[in-house]
Amino acid sequence: MIEKLSFGEPFLETHYLENENAFTIPGCCLLMNLDTEKSVLAENEFSVPPLSAAKLCDAQIDVPGKALLVFGSDTVDLNDLLTLDCLRSAWKSNWELTHLDKHRGVPYYKSPRVTVGGVTMNFCLVADPDCPSGIHREHGKPVKELHMQVVGEGAVDLLRSEHPSTVFASLPLSAGTVHIPEWNAEGIYPWHRYRSVTRSIFLGIEI
Ligand SMILES: [Fe+2]
Repeated sequence: MIEKLSFGEPFLETHYLENENAFTIPGCCLLMNLDTEKSVLAENEFSVPPLSAAKLCDAQIDVPGKALLVFGSDTVDLNDLLTLDCLRSAWKSNWELTHLDKHRGVPYYKSPRVTVGGVTMNFCLVADPDCPSGIHREHGKPVKELHMQVVGEGAVDLLRSEHPSTVFASLPLSAGTVHIPEWNAEGIYPWHRYRSVTRSIFLGIEI
């Protein structure tokens, strides 16, 4: 099954695949394997493990579980101020979404959210370089949270406490990578935050 999703449009084209064999990717895309158990196989040779990502070009893939394809990440230039303005007006800032004081002036902008195959996703633009999100360890509801980098460079930092000086691990992200899971066997997270290195777009994933 292949379903075209609209949540990244008009900037990023996304397709959700489930139980799809011998699908040939038209051009280059970022593939996020959303399945927690089954690998995606590319060209019958290369295995993309569960909850992992890769950049693929013209490859034939077998998706026994579920996966997302993201097209167009190479063409989004966040150093082009016109593009940046288009994104900022199309997607809502955290302040517009929550009206929480802590989000006032924070340059995080979210695309619409989509839920498909039990996975909720949205894109997020971080319009400034070197800009951390809030430090948190809970997510409102129990979810498995991942960030796949789509444009630019970023990182997920793990911290000993809510204080920004207590970072003990950083998981670097470049386009087409997703960090290793942060949650432990009980589903508990360390204090963590996303941080842009350059201007950045990531895909937020909740399973
Ligand atoms: Fe989080």
